[in-house]
Amino acid sequence: MTPVIALVGLLASASPDVQGGRQLFNDPGLGKNGVACATCHAVVRNEAEDGDGRIRSGQTLWGVAQRPFWRGDRGRRLHRNLGSAVDVCVQLFQGGRPLTGRRRRQLRAYLRQISPPPRKKQRRRAPDSPRIRTALEADLDYDRPHYQNGDAKRGRGLFYRACHQCHPHGRAGVAPAIAGASVADVAKAVREGNGLLRGARRAGAWSPFYGLGRLSHRQVADIAAFVSTLQPKR
Ligand code: HEC
Ligand code: HEC
Repeated sequence: MTPVIALVGLLASASPDVQGGRQLFNDPGLGKNGVACATCHAVVRNEAEDGDGRIRSGQTLWGVAQRPFWRGDRGRRLHRNLGSAVDVCVQLFQGGRPLTGRRRRQLRAYLRQISPPPRKKQRRRAPDSPRIRTALEADLDYDRPHYQNGDAKRGRGLFYRACHQCHPHGRAGVAPAIAGASVADVAKAVREGNGLLRGARRAGAWSPFYGLGRLSHRQVADIAAFVSTLQPKR
């Protein structure tokens, strides 16, 4: 079976809940800030091969319902189920309220749909939640060597893949204008986002962080070099 036919089969068999969940996933109106789950998470198995070229702050949610735990909570103390792990994003990255009732059910159905059981061969391997490779540098000085001397030319391409959607051309969009920001400020914003990872979220702030698994130090340096060369609009 070709992938296309397989996909058509998958869509045809989708239940109303799955369809509703897919809509919610792509809905910028789910929370309050105009950002959808799909803004920050791909849903393909292999982003490098099957992705759309965008670099999102969150990892792909393919297989997420099969993971033994979420958000690094190995003992499943904070997040006993997937819905609870999702609510963190809804509240802190979308400014919404925890999902209840039909919306919770639909989104769960969709996330299960994109989480087929692993093939037998893979099942034997210890399942593990892909690590959130954090890059917590909150207490460090961002004016450090590995964010300096970035290549603005390379940064341009990365910027359009990672940042443009919320900061169009560095100007204000669903997020504030950042053109001309200093390299240190850009590195800090990319690594920390709204401060959630440090357990110190700035009130009302919902920008995402990019862990090391999403953007390398080099890539952050390149993006920062590019943003710092942009002319702020006067
Ligand atoms: C502004 C960006 C942003 C938005 C919007 C967002 N997320 Fe996230 N999400 C993240 C980041 C960053 C993480 C932590 C890194 C990671 O696990 O990908 C995360 C983590 C998660 C995790 C934990 C994954 C794991 O294996 O530990 C789940 C589940 C999740 N998000 C689901 C959702 C769903 C469903 C929505 C929409 C209702 C959503 N997210 C909206 C950025 C976002
Ligand atoms: C999902 C939307 C989103 C994406 C993608 C995003 N940002 Fe942001 N960013 C925000 C929001 C919203 C703020 C405002 C502060 C807050 O709410 O936490 C912000 C703030 C910033 C700031 C600080 C500006 C200020 O005046 O406070 C910088 C610098 C920045 N972002 C850089 C970047 C870079 C570089 C990228 C790409 C790697 C990026 N952002 C990707 C939403 C986003």
